[in-house]
Amino acid sequence: MKMKKIDIYEVGPRDGFQNIKEYIPEATKKEIIDGLIASGIKHIEITSFVSPKAIPQLRDAQDIAKACLETYPDVDFLALVPNLRGAQTAADVGIQRIAYVVSLSESHNKANINRTHEQSYEALKEIMTQCPQLDIILDLATTFGCPFEGKFLPEQVVEFLKQYVELGVKQVCLCDTIGIANPRQVKDIIAAVWEAYPQLDLQVHIHDTRNMGVACTLAAIEAGVTKVQSTLGGLGGCPFAPGASGNLATEDLVYTLNEMGYDTGVQFEPILQLAKQEVKAIPTGVYSGHHIRIDQTSKCFR
Ligand code: COA
Ligand code: ZN
Repeated sequence: MKMKKIDIYEVGPRDGFQNIKEYIPEATKKEIIDGLIASGIKHIEITSFVSPKAIPQLRDAQDIAKACLETYPDVDFLALVPNLRGAQTAADVGIQRIAYVVSLSESHNKANINRTHEQSYEALKEIMTQCPQLDIILDLATTFGCPFEGKFLPEQVVEFLKQYVELGVKQVCLCDTIGIANPRQVKDIIAAVWEAYPQLDLQVHIHDTRNMGVACTLAAIEAGVTKVQSTLGGLGGCPFAPGASGNLATEDLVYTLNEMGYDTGVQFEPILQLAKQEVKAIPTGVYSGHHIRIDQTSKCFR
């Protein structure tokens, strides 16, 4: 019997690229996106519509989005936005799904997007009113812990989400921005959130800072989550969260899930080759690093 379907959301072109200091040419970005799609990836966060002063690497957001939408009308392309302006730009170029980011930690919210919790909430309300056509995922950064405020209890996550659920948010991505989660905490937080809001469509976004990426993502899957995020080559991090490093690598995730019999729809070999190509094409910066763990010949974790 085929096991359950898991949707992999590749966020490398956003969360991965945003941390690379040296500008990655549009053609290289596009080649990686082409490769991801050829390997079977169907959901990609391709960029973010943020201030080019905050994230200079993604200053080509509009061009990338337009090119991808034109070439692949059937792929689910998402973009991260921090404010109404970003949402409007996304809508203008034809993006239909956005990830709206807010941090559970107010200190990280300030460091990341220079907004209080109240301001972030008000901005989402405005987006929902002015861009009703957009499908919104609430990216809840620092759900599992913050470099400034430490860990949060499941009740705090539930309490924070209350006003967003009341506002009409239906999809939430629980983000382990600094890779501090453990599998038990992942299960506890998911259980608490679903007990309070059983209607919510949940995703997880786990960084691999402490080599817990696969374990935490599997814990989420065992808790019932079917949408999980990762980045090709484990690229990633947050420039505004000290200590954050790479995401769970897509090739690690694909290997694990395929071997376990889950239906990811993604082929391991091409994705591994693509990760290796990415290592050659993109020199990494100080906050991030590729970490390809699976050796092609031995096919086992190093
Ligand atoms: N797209 C492009 N430019 C934008 C923008 C957007 N969505 N929102 C604001 N800007 C520009 C403004 O025009 C202004 O430009 P100027 O200095 O040339 O006049 C500048 O950014 C600052 O705008 P302001 O509204 O004063 O915002 P801010 O200084 O308080 O910064 C953010 C807020 C959210 C725009 C900024 O912090 C940001 O883009 N952060 C990125 C966060 C991120 O991507 N983190 C990693 C992923 S979680
Ligand atoms: Zn991240």
